[in-house]
Amino acid sequence: MAKEIKTIAVLTSGGDAPGMNAAIRAVVRTAIARGLKVKGVKRGYMGLLNEEITDMEARHVSDIIQRGGTILGTARCLEFKKPEVQQKAADICKKHGIDGIVVIGGDGSYRGAQCLSRLGINTVGLPGTIDLDIACTDYTIGFDTAVNTAMQAIDKVKDTSSSHERCSIIEVMGRNAGYIALWCGIANGAEDILLPEVYDYNEQEIINHIIENRKKGKTHHLIINAEGIGHSVSMSRRIEAATGLETRATILGYMQRGGNPTARDRVYASIMGAKAVDVMLEGKTNRVIGYKHGEFIDVDIEEALQMKKGIDEYQYEVARMI
Ligand code: ADP
Ligand code: F6P
Repeated sequence: MAKEIKTIAVLTSGGDAPGMNAAIRAVVRTAIARGLKVKGVKRGYMGLLNEEITDMEARHVSDIIQRGGTILGTARCLEFKKPEVQQKAADICKKHGIDGIVVIGGDGSYRGAQCLSRLGINTVGLPGTIDLDIACTDYTIGFDTAVNTAMQAIDKVKDTSSSHERCSIIEVMGRNAGYIALWCGIANGAEDILLPEVYDYNEQEIINHIIENRKKGKTHHLIINAEGIGHSVSMSRRIEAATGLETRATILGYMQRGGNPTARDRVYASIMGAKAVDVMLEGKTNRVIGYKHGEFIDVDIEEALQMKKGIDEYQYEVARMI
């Protein structure tokens, strides 16, 4: 028989992402609406181990849906990989009467959730990362905001780059994934898009492309480079030396992780937060909420972690073509 769920907790883990607050709010308010008690855990798994656990009421999540970051705080807690530390966390959950935890984070955070699930604490994960690098879902909380933030920043760099007839390399985040780069590449009309999944390190090809474009009369050249490739500054020096054209590198950095979430991030995070509670109430554990083919779904964490995500070939072809 499925375990009865009376009290749940919510935590955010790994890198923060805009929309995490909307998800926390939805978890808290859905839990209350369904007659559950709900607790907030500060600073991810680290806070769980330090028993930074507080009761959450509906008013504690007032006025946060529009705010970036996470009101619960987040942390990376490497010691959580140790079995004895996981057991300590499960014991702390039992001590505080926590039957289930909603974990908002990325793949690493799900691994932690999986361990807690094996130790009898029901877990449901929510995909919270700007990187969009979770294979079981077409949407992750924060990606939409991050792409819009990066796109607007790139528009600004492009203005000055075209006035000065320069070549610009703009590096966007994404860890080992190229989705932010691909989306900005399309949205900002970049001449070249360098994605870790497909880039063959053929810099000569980029140099030839810049020279050809100049011959055709193009006065500036925008290259979007993914963080997973990196080295934008040294690349700009080599390109300048090879082409004779002024070339500048801009690394957008952490600005991409902050700011007010877009409508899409607020709404999808809210729906996913509510679904996480409902999935838990069905007695399920070791699940992650995703969005596939227009539907919100739940997937086994083990299966989710086995899935591989690549760059959509057609999207990449379109980006290069236009
Ligand atoms: P993300 O969740 O964004 O992928 P991390 O990979 O940094 O971010 O993972 C977040 C946290 O999840 C880690 O700091 C750690 O506490 C926990 N975690 C990561 N990998 C494991 C693992 N293999 N086993 C248990 N916990 C893990
Ligand atoms: O996962 C989100 C992300 O911003 C990545 O794009 C980036 O590689 C990483 O986090 C940076 O992490 P940290 O905050 O530990 O520097």
